[in-house]
Amino acid sequence: MIIGIETTAHTFGVGVVHNGKIFANVKDMYKPLSGGIIPNKSAEHHKLVADNVWNDALSKAGCSDSDITAIAVSNAPGLAPCLHAGLNFAKLKAKLLGVPLVPVNHCIAHLEIGQSVGASDPVLLYASGANTQIIAYTAASKSHRMPSSLKNREKLAGASSKYRVFGETLDLGVGNFIDTFGRHVGIPFPAGPALEGKAKNGKYIELPYSIKGMDVSFSGMQTKMKQLFDKGVSVEDLAFSMQETAFAMLVEASERALAHTGKTELVLGGGVACNSRLQEMCRLMCESRGVKMFCPAKEFLVDNGAMIAYTGELLFNSGIKKKPEDVEINARERTDMVDVSWK
Ligand SMILES: Nc1ncnc2c1ncn2[C@@H]1O[C@H](COP(=O)(O)OP(=O)(O)O)[C@@H](O)[C@H]1O
Ligand SMILES: [Mg+2]
Repeated sequence: MIIGIETTAHTFGVGVVHNGKIFANVKDMYKPLSGGIIPNKSAEHHKLVADNVWNDALSKAGCSDSDITAIAVSNAPGLAPCLHAGLNFAKLKAKLLGVPLVPVNHCIAHLEIGQSVGASDPVLLYASGANTQIIAYTAASKSHRMPSSLKNREKLAGASSKYRVFGETLDLGVGNFIDTFGRHVGIPFPAGPALEGKAKNGKYIELPYSIKGMDVSFSGMQTKMKQLFDKGVSVEDLAFSMQETAFAMLVEASERALAHTGKTELVLGGGVACNSRLQEMCRLMCESRGVKMFCPAKEFLVDNGAMIAYTGELLFNSGIKKKPEDVEINARERTDMVDVSWK
């Protein structure tokens, strides 16, 4: 069995996977009493709950120490103190059990678990707290001839097999944007689910719709929403209009990526994909294009250990395994920096 440890931000999670099947997915989320996530506090939380979450996951999976082949850990990207807390725990366990570590990029894990529900070569709308990207897999091309000015960019994007980023946020991740507005109106982190509830009783007012090429931006909308709230516009109307506007931007960029790549599947990933209105808007767009839509269950959309274990197993089976002392954190590793050698 492969154990996966998620630890990049607010959630400490442990998942257990064997042959692509998930046997346990246990998590404990740090929730600040007020304000946003304080990285050191979140890391303290992870250290505190690690043993319990680990034991709980292993016992739910009926997994004993001798069943463990490798430990996968999300070493990138994320908040450095949180990454350290998780990696130290993973190293300790790996040394104790004498098994290798498999470092997993957290964003890639959101994408891989998205594809576990049936898609084979999709466009991925990755909408989480810190990240918002429209992504598609592109296989290595041997005939890349680029002007030297483009070489660095090409190194990032196309020279080997990559999850290529077709569009992304230019400022805030869509979830952080939602959570920050929530804080402004007195709704604690994570505000997404509560604002989705409020949106059900809201009506439409115009907000800045900001899409530049394939990229989106949320800071203008955020400022406008705060101003309108301070002038007395209801949270319900703002929540409704925010969903209609922000999600339409994401759907527009996703649709253009589908048109450009000619791919015929869309997969949703990340915590914001839990939102039923976003799912509905994506479904409508896909139906009108004759594209299939896939969305994993909520427990696999938000941060979780199962997606790390699932991806870890793919990597492990392709030969990726490391000595514990050789694994470091990589707080800023982008999705398109990872060589996708396992596909
Ligand atoms: N129903 C929902 N509607 C909108 N946003 C949601 C919903 N459920 C969760 N979220 C948002 O998802 C984010 C958490 O997703 P996650 O993938 O765990 O983020 P990250 O990995 O970037 O920390 C939070 O910003 C939260 O508000
Ligand atoms: Mg995440």
